[in-house]
Amino acid sequence: MIFRGSIPMLENGIRKVFETLGVKTMTIVDLGCSSGPNTLLFVSKLIDITTEQCNKVVECDPMELLIFLNDLPGNDFNQVFRSLENLEKGTSDQKGNTPLFYHISGLPKSYYNRLLPRESVHLFHSSSSLHWRSQVPEVLEASRDALLNKDNIYISEASTSFVVKCFREQFNKDFSTFLKLRHEELVYGGKMVLTFCGRKDENVYNGDLNKLFGLLAMSLQSLITKGLVESEKLDSFNLPFYGPSISEVKYIVMQSHMFELDHIKLFEINWDPYDDTEGDDVHDSVCSASMFLSLLEQRWNL
Ligand SMILES: C[S@@+](CC[C@H](N)C(=O)[O-])C[C@H]1O[C@@H](n2cnc3c(N)ncnc32)[C@H](O)[C@@H]1O
Repeated sequence: MIFRGSIPMLENGIRKVFETLGVKTMTIVDLGCSSGPNTLLFVSKLIDITTEQCNKVVECDPMELLIFLNDLPGNDFNQVFRSLENLEKGTSDQKGNTPLFYHISGLPKSYYNRLLPRESVHLFHSSSSLHWRSQVPEVLEASRDALLNKDNIYISEASTSFVVKCFREQFNKDFSTFLKLRHEELVYGGKMVLTFCGRKDENVYNGDLNKLFGLLAMSLQSLITKGLVESEKLDSFNLPFYGPSISEVKYIVMQSHMFELDHIKLFEINWDPYDDTEGDDVHDSVCSASMFLSLLEQRWNL
């Protein structure tokens, strides 16, 4: 998916790489690309923006893009490669711009590891992925019997401050590692455009992820009541997520001393996958609720 709110930042990032680095081959990595209909939306937008950028410059040498699509090894890369045929049809240029060459490869590895050689990437992009942690906080995993987050699968009103601390520390550790690795791989002057789920304010109990996974925990509790799921399974299960606030993200970036934050913005989306307007106004609640449920069914095989 590519959020409308992040497009100006992507355009800006590509323009800056293009103007300041003046490279003929731009290396771009999409981190957490997935394998659904949204995967190639980013690639197609990237090709459009770069083609336009290149054609603004008189006598621009033909530009080439080297695009790496990254996800965990379990991702269905075969389906991604099969759908490339549609991309080639869909991106033939309609404005008379000189088409650019692009080469697409898969990169099946966790982005909490080094992915590519030192100083080889011009632009990293990631959408809707970086709220995934590398693992459930170790203390919660190790103390499955102590039921530290009983009846919950993420931070809820009932979670103790210790549980919150575990999730927050996992985010700090993962995000610091992520920045260090990407810093090694980026060329000097390269850019990153990262969009992920976070919280509106500092109240760690009050984010969209808390609401979403609170509802999911309630559904699981009702399956336990019906005798369809064992309560021990829910009691010992936690999800590897954390939705940080803007100040938490800024803090880690500043602490790393590796990146300058050009721009950071919070934008709200509603949960209806077919409505990408900002804010949480719902025009047709029945339609939106059924869209949201079908999204959950696809993602979680419910
Ligand atoms: C919600 S999907 C987002 C897909 C796509 N970027 C989009 O915007 O529609 C999140 C993706 O991140 C991937 N992901 C989660 N943790 C990852 C990691 N450590 N390394 C690589 N990919 C990861 C998941 O496998 C999943 O495909």
